[in-house]
Amino acid sequence: MSWTEHQRAMLAEMGLRVWDAPGAQEPVVAVAAEAVGAGPASRPIAVPVTVAPQPHIVSPPGMDRAPGAVATMDWPALRDAVAACTACSLHQSRRQTVFGVGHPQAHWMIVGEAPGEEEDRRGEPFVGRSGQLLDNMLRAIGLSRQAGTLAGSGESSAPEDPAKQVFIANTLKCRPPGNRNPAPDELARCEGFLIRQIELVRPKIILAMGRFAVQSLLRSTAPIGQLRGRVHHYQGVPLVVTYHPAYLLRNLPEKARAWDDLCLALDTVEASAAHAARGA
Ligand code: URA
Repeated sequence: MSWTEHQRAMLAEMGLRVWDAPGAQEPVVAVAAEAVGAGPASRPIAVPVTVAPQPHIVSPPGMDRAPGAVATMDWPALRDAVAACTACSLHQSRRQTVFGVGHPQAHWMIVGEAPGEEEDRRGEPFVGRSGQLLDNMLRAIGLSRQAGTLAGSGESSAPEDPAKQVFIANTLKCRPPGNRNPAPDELARCEGFLIRQIELVRPKIILAMGRFAVQSLLRSTAPIGQLRGRVHHYQGVPLVVTYHPAYLLRNLPEKARAWDDLCLALDTVEASAAHAARGA
């Protein structure tokens, strides 16, 4: 693949660099050496970038619609229900619930794990260090969250093109104390809200980040490394599995694989748009 200057600049957003490795037939996407403290004069840390395999459809594990009253809620009702939720003990320690952010009809839906301290303070998902990396990753493929646009908050929806927008939500809407992992009963009690959010957004692609998003949406406990690289489906929506940004911050070489995952998601959206245009 040949990379334009623009694409190289985009990759730099993610801390990746295109390296014209001696002897290699194609440039290699690699983690910039500076990013891992090797010094600017050093070679990048080369990470073999897998060519995205042919999308392979895995049958959905079959999750029902959002349960009970949640199944028919519109955005404002859903937002209110989340804000008032006391279904698990997390409501006792939260500052506030973290509903989700983004365009209500975004073509891209990002599903993370749970709010951390900063998110609990600000009421918006992914606003800490992981969030900065997530925003850079999204920017690298031309996407953005509509900062300050909270579906169901009563704010007027902005005119941005939904194809370039994301909606970001977590499996849990409340922060687990000390940022511990979500507990199974917390995930189970909260999942109706996420299901309803997906039903309302009807995204063209879901990016499931990290093992708890994958457990909730695919009902799989397989390692991320085994699930990434192919297209799954959730309620008929294509779903791509990738690493959680917090994991990428601790494991910089995996950023090149996360880039592969973003490219697979982008290819998937573009392929279905082309298919729809042909059928129209
Ligand atoms: N990690 C997540 O999974 N979600 C957030 O909102 C913040 C950090």
